[in-house]
Amino acid sequence: MAKIYTGENIKEGIRILADFMKEAKYTVVLTGAGMDTESNIPDFRSQDGLWRKMDPRLVASIDTFEENYSLFRDFYSERIKRLKDVKPHEGHYVLADFEKRGIIKCIATQNVSDLHRMAGNDKVYELHGNIRKIRCNYCNHKAELEDFLNREKCANCGRDALRPEVVLFGEALPMDEWLWAEEDIRKSDLIIVIGTSLEVAPVNQLPMLTRGKRVLINMEDVDIYYDFDLKLMGKAGEILRELREVYDSL
Ligand code: OAD
Repeated sequence: MAKIYTGENIKEGIRILADFMKEAKYTVVLTGAGMDTESNIPDFRSQDGLWRKMDPRLVASIDTFEENYSLFRDFYSERIKRLKDVKPHEGHYVLADFEKRGIIKCIATQNVSDLHRMAGNDKVYELHGNIRKIRCNYCNHKAELEDFLNREKCANCGRDALRPEVVLFGEALPMDEWLWAEEDIRKSDLIIVIGTSLEVAPVNQLPMLTRGKRVLINMEDVDIYYDFDLKLMGKAGEILRELREVYDSL
């Protein structure tokens, strides 16, 4: 069982992670909604999480899209509007800096917010899609965010079927993104998993694919069977900021 570093001894844990990173040749990162909460985007399963207030299958599923399109559209329109002024936090910028310096190779993310790219990361695998991109569900014609928010029909086929490019309950993950993420994680000798409950398949299987070390950075312990080598419990943004300082001092 990995030792948990938190509170007063978090610095010791951060130092261990920085050492792992110095030794590693291929470090990858997997993020979830906890990566974005410090940018004021609620996660899904914490106390204030989105799915604590509503059942995802009633609003975010392909069945809802087909059977109750206006409810579906209202739910996603609200989520999109709330993203308007959202910006990456320092933790996102640390990860972007790490990628530019070759310290991490890629980020596989469950987040649809686009904040990793906004912070400057280039190799981002969006395993659950991107809420800022809009397309027609039937003819795949691309549309603008404003078209969706303005309740417009698809300009190509005329159907009431615009939707964000997110993975809905009942849908498969985007195959390319999944295969690229899988390939990179298989190559990795260190995976840093940040801000996810690891409750959702198949993404929660990805940490098992590394041939190297597994590290968790999360507010709470979520390990049931992952066999992490190291766990840092705390806020992702704060831990990442400190991690860069320690890394650069070695
Ligand atoms: P969850 O809400 O399930 O888990 C987020 C985790 O992040 C929790 O364990 C929190 O304790 C932790 N957390 C919150 N704030 C944090 C912070 N500042 N620093 C560190 N940790 C923090 O979110 P995901 O695991 O990402 O899918 O959920 C996976 C998928 O479930 C989502 O992509 C979404 C949802 O249904 C789809 O919509 C397809």
